[in-house]
Amino acid sequence: MKNLVIISGAGISAESGVPTFRDSDGLWCNHRVEDVATYTAWEKNPKLVQDFYNERRKQVLSVEPNAAHFAITELQNHFNVQVITQNVDDLHERAGNTNVLHLHGNIRYAKSSNPDLAWAGMSATVFEEHYLILGDTINYPEDTAPDGFPLRPDIVWFGEAVPAIIDASEIVKTADIIIVVGTSLQVYPAASLVYDAKNWVPIYYIDPNPGDITIANEVNYIKEKASVGFDKIKETLISLK
Ligand code: OAD
Repeated sequence: MKNLVIISGAGISAESGVPTFRDSDGLWCNHRVEDVATYTAWEKNPKLVQDFYNERRKQVLSVEPNAAHFAITELQNHFNVQVITQNVDDLHERAGNTNVLHLHGNIRYAKSSNPDLAWAGMSATVFEEHYLILGDTINYPEDTAPDGFPLRPDIVWFGEAVPAIIDASEIVKTADIIIVVGTSLQVYPAASLVYDAKNWVPIYYIDPNPGDITIANEVNYIKEKASVGFDKIKETLISLK
């Protein structure tokens, strides 16, 4: 079977009711990144940061995967599918997508807020433990990691390293077909992943308001919502299998 690599962003979860970041009703229109999504914000006001992600976790747990997530499950019958997502929700997994790499972490998990880990970057000597959160809330400061530091959301904040980018890049190099879906391609290093593709690999970019991919590869823009976009390209994709 051919390798189909899907690079997803917040737009694939929009039809489930999860807000995106940079659209007019997006999260970053109502919150300053510097207040909630950096380690400095955590040092300044951990309770505010924790509350922000507790709210987001509650929301993720209250919604369901949509037709786009399920379309990927169906494509698994025809391709070796690998999803690389910037999303911290678990809707891909709940729809039955089996190979999912989270570039920016997973809101269902927590990790130690030990500052040595936060600043450790890509150091291979540091091993981070990830803990599944059983309810929907991490209580600050009561909930602590075994090292004694309060638990923080298992999310990559701005300014932090993205260790999963190394595996993601290797996966993109093996792709026979790439689908980019629901991402503005504004955030690096995720936005640069497509440039790791072999130059004969076709790229399908499903997004009502796509960003720009300037690349030698054939890029097919499908300016639709994710569910409609997957429906439109399904037959074409299957003919390529
Ligand atoms: P953005 O909010 O930047 O982009 C969302 C994209 O989804 C836009 O291009 C929209 O046009 C598109 N979109 C909106 N509704 C859609 C729908 N129904 N179907 C398909 N596409 C739709 O979100 P990301 O690109 O995912 O990181 O943002 C990347 C990262 O920035 C996030 O992972 C997050 C954020 O800061 C962290 O928080 C670590």
